[in-house]
Amino acid sequence: MTERKTRVAILFGGRSAEHDVSRASAANVLRSLDPDKYDATLIGITRDGRWMVADTGNGVGTGAGALTIPTDGPQLALLPGGQGRALVLEARAADIRELPAFDVVFPVLHGPNGEDGTVQGALELSDVAYVGSRVMGSAAAMDKDVAKRLMRDAGLPLVPYVAMSAAAPITYDDAVSAVGSPEVFVKPANMGSSVGVSKARTAAEFETACRLAFRFDTKILIERCVAPISEVECAVLEDSDGRICASQLGEIVPSDKHGFYSYDAKYLDADGALLQVPAKVPPALADQIKELAIKTFRVLGCEGMARIDFFVHGEQAFVNEANTLPGFTDISMYPRLWEASGLPQSELMNVLIGHALARHKRSRSLVFDRA
Ligand SMILES: Nc1ncnc2c1ncn2[C@@H]1O[C@H](COP(=O)(O)OP(=O)(O)O)[C@@H](O)[C@H]1O
Ligand SMILES: [Mg+2]
Repeated sequence: MTERKTRVAILFGGRSAEHDVSRASAANVLRSLDPDKYDATLIGITRDGRWMVADTGNGVGTGAGALTIPTDGPQLALLPGGQGRALVLEARAADIRELPAFDVVFPVLHGPNGEDGTVQGALELSDVAYVGSRVMGSAAAMDKDVAKRLMRDAGLPLVPYVAMSAAAPITYDDAVSAVGSPEVFVKPANMGSSVGVSKARTAAEFETACRLAFRFDTKILIERCVAPISEVECAVLEDSDGRICASQLGEIVPSDKHGFYSYDAKYLDADGALLQVPAKVPPALADQIKELAIKTFRVLGCEGMARIDFFVHGEQAFVNEANTLPGFTDISMYPRLWEASGLPQSELMNVLIGHALARHKRSRSLVFDRA
């Protein structure tokens, strides 16, 4: 008897500045799923947060650079406690039908409302297996201030920083003495894709930079500007038995005109940055960075996958941040690093989905109450 295919729901789009990146990532994830093993359902989350059935067939749209999301038509709701069952709400016909249960959900969502534990919470409540970190690991990695406190506690090397809330502002002079340099980076605590990130060298620039960062969050970070740096990234992957591996390292070389790895350099300018695999890092330092990547993954409570980003200054590596749902486009670093490390993308999908299913089974065996 042939085994039934695994039903995968790909969740993409979402209410974040990285909506478009997510649509491109989802197209690539869909392309990488082995059609002999998986049946995919596409669920696109609109910018205003509605879950739309984007395509109920398998493989439609695989040639596209980015998946599209219908703005009207059937909407989808996962059932709390429904073991992966979902309802399709046919708004116009006032009709409700039930989809067969999903075996696993792959949230291909970046940034707030997707990578930060919120969607993971909804998936927990609906009792369905899903790829990647759970609520705690997602939330801890997304909040740069909380992540840094955990990493500092574990003795991981960090760039000096200070956090500031809108309710308790600090002056430029205080920030400078806290981080030990007049040149600082200012960034929202919960964001990504360099949205709201800028550099400041004077009190006036600092005020502008803080105002920008506060548009995106009520808590911001001020960090010592480290220069010159190379930006080195490491992909971390956990298999279904809980073994955690680090990939080869990759390096981002932003073009000089952008000054740093800004939103424009990442997404708008085709020549904005060069992705170099492997990174040009001496072998001993590369080994140290891989170890730091695995340690960071564990310290933050990440699961399944994460891309850990570093700043390398001379011989010193600093952990910058962890991304629990890294970019998955066909040119993104995470899948590229695994390809370069000998793991093709379709096998990467098998490991990620295998981990999700095994973890769900393990957590089902836990006891929730004493009765
Ligand atoms: N302390 C710093 N020193 C030097 N460059 C920095 C610093 N912090 C951020 N940058 C630059 O800004 C980019 C975005 O900052 P990052 O902290 O990675 O935020 P995001 O989560 O938006 O990617 C980095 O890739 C780097 O180019
Ligand atoms: Mg970054």
